[in-house]
Amino acid sequence: MSEKPEIYSGPERVFSGVQPSGALHLGNYLGALKKFVSLQDEHDCVFCIVDLHAITVWQDPADLARQTRHIAAAYLAAGVDPKKAIIYPQSRIKAHTELAWYFNCVARMGWLNRMTQFKDKAGKNSEKMSIGLYDYPVLQAADILAFKGTHVPVGEDQKQHLELSRDIAAKFNNDFNAPGFFPLPEPLIKGPGARIMSLRDGTSKMSKSDPSDNSRINLTDDADQIAKKIRKAKTDAGVIPDNAEELAERPEVSNLVGIYAALSGQSEADVLKEYAGQGFGAFKPALADLTVAKIAPITNLMKRYISADDEIDAILARGADAAEEIATPIVSDVRDIIGFWKV
Ligand code: AMP
Ligand code: TRP
Repeated sequence: MSEKPEIYSGPERVFSGVQPSGALHLGNYLGALKKFVSLQDEHDCVFCIVDLHAITVWQDPADLARQTRHIAAAYLAAGVDPKKAIIYPQSRIKAHTELAWYFNCVARMGWLNRMTQFKDKAGKNSEKMSIGLYDYPVLQAADILAFKGTHVPVGEDQKQHLELSRDIAAKFNNDFNAPGFFPLPEPLIKGPGARIMSLRDGTSKMSKSDPSDNSRINLTDDADQIAKKIRKAKTDAGVIPDNAEELAERPEVSNLVGIYAALSGQSEADVLKEYAGQGFGAFKPALADLTVAKIAPITNLMKRYISADDEIDAILARGADAAEEIATPIVSDVRDIIGFWKV
């Protein structure tokens, strides 16, 4: 009989990441950054800038470091405090790529074949995609588990990737007779803001890669741009409904109400109570004012950080050292568990 505990009993740790592959938008803020800030006071937090994930599709080498600083600026401007949470770029820590290889030998082809994000991104061109794009969720599992991350704040689109991380952790623990070595990381997804949709189409998510800039509110948009995009947001001829059932059948309206709720910290039911029966002529300006009030301070701070490379670089370098201290011994234990030769 093994003396080892069957389930992970180590400390809790929050881990998440954002790719440096384009301007951040309201969906990233509400689905991820805002949650990071709310977790950092009570939890041990590691927030990575996942540049290894970004290069699964082409990134201009002349731009990658700048994009990485840009995400760091967004973290800081949103309120992530480097005194409380570790912020660092993924490529600086070798543990990610090393553990990803070990996990490549644990994860099964069938598991990856089911990943809908790969299918969405690759479309009919899967033969022409990088192997990295296919393997992306395995690297994501390595990110989290190199830190024994137990809780992962992400938007709803990451749910399937998190399930894969759990499967990989469980199979590793089982295959190598190391019960409880890795935690089974739990996604923190719930709440309004977990799935912000395009302002032009309530059935597709707000995304960096949507060709229409009017589909999203960028964290770099100014007050006029925000107000204009909300004014132009697709709605219907009706008024704000008074119940969740009707709201669910009107995706564009549901999205705007969800954004209002997420930004104001209210429930959707409260927003419906306040605005039921009103037309969009009244609701949209209220939503625009709220969005500007919440986003403009972040935009302004981001600009300040973007022009302070030295400050950002110092924070990232310190973060990388702190991250390395956590991840290196964990991956070293993995090597022992696998049974590699050592002296
Ligand atoms: P990415 O930009 O793909 O690296 O995503 C960074 C974080 O933002 C992840 O936690 C995503 O789940 C989250 N996210 C991206 N798009 C949205 C969206 N439209 N609504 C809510 N969360 C999102
Ligand atoms: N795949 C995530 C996204 O696109 C980014 C990511 C990479 C991540 N590694 C992670 C998120 C680890 C959480 C934990 O949004």
